[in-house]
Amino acid sequence: MDIVLLGAPGAGKGTQAKALAAELGLLHISTGELFREAARLGTPLGQQAQAYMLRGELVPDDLTIALLREQLGQPAAARGVLLDGFPRTLAQAEALDALLAAHGRRVDRAVFLDVPRDVLLARLSGRWFCSGCETSYHSLFRPPTQPGICDRCGQPLYQRPDDRPETAARRLDVYLERTAPLLDYYQRAGVLVRINGDQPVE
Ligand code: AP5
Ligand code: MG
Repeated sequence: MDIVLLGAPGAGKGTQAKALAAELGLLHISTGELFREAARLGTPLGQQAQAYMLRGELVPDDLTIALLREQLGQPAAARGVLLDGFPRTLAQAEALDALLAAHGRRVDRAVFLDVPRDVLLARLSGRWFCSGCETSYHSLFRPPTQPGICDRCGQPLYQRPDDRPETAARRLDVYLERTAPLLDYYQRAGVLVRINGDQPVE
């Protein structure tokens, strides 16, 4: 199976993807996480991507599609992938179809996590990540047992710079303008499933 997770920033794509990929045996590919990792390592791709991410804008399609092509080429991707945060533009969706078709595959399901805007903003402003294992927490909805410390591995938690209120609001606007039209694209392809994402994580 090849699955796309669609949803606005804060919809819960990363949270659900971690659980689903483990359960279904799929490779979890988050373009956002890959860009952040590249930025931490200071690679040329990371430096280019970071400038866009810090403004809440999309990284250009050519860079993003090249990154995805590389990811899909890994042996671990052969059993199926769970895409989190890709595609985000029509050009990316078309490129994905072409890349999968070259291997006789297609997007089997596009799962849309539907969450109201006020809930999205509340989720982003309270979000924390573990600096060791990247588990995500929320100060109100999913608090760690000990504030600021990961339950799983004991490392300190941090917040993403693009979760600052102005940048988060810009990300939501960019989502509505550039990514929301993909709902139609996958509806027409007959693979769209809508899930009410304003429910408990489980
Ligand atoms: P990316 O990293 O993909 O960020 P995003 O789409 O903005 O989404 P988030 O990671 O913020 O939210 P999420 O849906 O994963 O929610 P989460 O599970 O964490 O992209 C970042 C940037 O990279 C982009 O802005 C862009 O610049 C660039 N980029 C990436 N991909 C790109 C592409 N394809 N093209 C161009 N540019 C690209 O949950 C949020 C919070 O809510 C957490 O605290 C969590 O604990 C909590 N939570 C989750 N589910 C629930 C629930 N059910 N109830 C209560 N709380 C919940
Ligand atoms: Mg995410």
